[in-house]
Amino acid sequence: MTSNVDALEATLLAEISAAGDLAAIEAVRVSALGKKGRVSELMSTLGALPPDARKAFGQTVNALKDRVTAALGERKDALEAAALAQRLATERADVTLPVRSGPEARGRIHPVSQVLDEVIEIFAGLGFAVAEGPDIETDDNNFTKLNIPAEHPARQDHDTFYLAPGPDGVRKVLRTHTSPVQIRTMLAQKPPIRIIAPGRVYRCDSDQTHTPMFHQVEGLVIDETTHMGHLKWTLEAFAKAFFEVDEVKMRFRASHFPFTEPSMEVDIGAEAIGKPGQWLEILGCGMVHPNVIANCGLDPERYQGFAFGVGLDRLTMLKYGIPDLRQFFAGDIRWLSHYGFSVLDVPTTGGGLSN
Ligand code: PHE
Repeated sequence: MTSNVDALEATLLAEISAAGDLAAIEAVRVSALGKKGRVSELMSTLGALPPDARKAFGQTVNALKDRVTAALGERKDALEAAALAQRLATERADVTLPVRSGPEARGRIHPVSQVLDEVIEIFAGLGFAVAEGPDIETDDNNFTKLNIPAEHPARQDHDTFYLAPGPDGVRKVLRTHTSPVQIRTMLAQKPPIRIIAPGRVYRCDSDQTHTPMFHQVEGLVIDETTHMGHLKWTLEAFAKAFFEVDEVKMRFRASHFPFTEPSMEVDIGAEAIGKPGQWLEILGCGMVHPNVIANCGLDPERYQGFAFGVGLDRLTMLKYGIPDLRQFFAGDIRWLSHYGFSVLDVPTTGGGLSN
């Protein structure tokens, strides 16, 4: 009996080491340990033995079963490792290869989307979160809470698109600027606040540099100590990062917005885009008006801060030398192929914004 066991073990171990793949090892396993397998059959001869021999024989066969199971496992692990090594050697993907020219490579990111990503990347680096608001706004958020009461002349300057009055008789508007997101943010969260709010805005105006829909990015910082020095530093840091230059000349001109006091318009030296000797107006800004802070339920004696609003399309035209704003929204595939960006050109401040 024991010699049978030894012979079977030798046969099985030889079969196991000869098994060349996972299917072969499985076949050996079934033929040895399966219900009708050779080890199981040995076990079934147990009943024919005299009772005093059964125990020892049972232990012998169980030990055999353990050794065969272990040998199967080892061989299987070795075969799996070899199969994996084989796949790794043959299926290597070179992720540095250029994208094959196909629809993916032909697709283009719109310059405004690209510039928006650049702006978000820069301000994210300065600790600003991105906030959003709806394109269809209440008159209250777009004007009144921003310290532009009914009949205020600034309302006319905005060339507002009004929607038909709702059931309550109230007319909503297509927001004329992203400043209502200042209101939404201050109503929704307690200072310290540090956000930018990019989005579409609408004004009834159209020529080479104006379209009825365009894009702005609002900025808002509210806490207890933020002052105009912070505003100037932030805008300068932004301008340098955005135009990818080490130095940028900036000019702050006194201006007027109902929601900031004082208010300024900011120009940058056109050296930044390779045109020395000129000034380029890039944004409006100021210290948030105490009335606006109070309109949002915050104490203007305690809280203060700055806001700015920049035209994203204009930034895009300046940085990438694109002349006609109307083309931005014409949906012309030739224009997009020319001015658009590769899908893989993800802007990062570390890796370079525009390359
Ligand atoms: N909302 C202003 C505009 O559309 C820009 C602005 C925003 C000015 C924030 C000051 C502060 O022209």
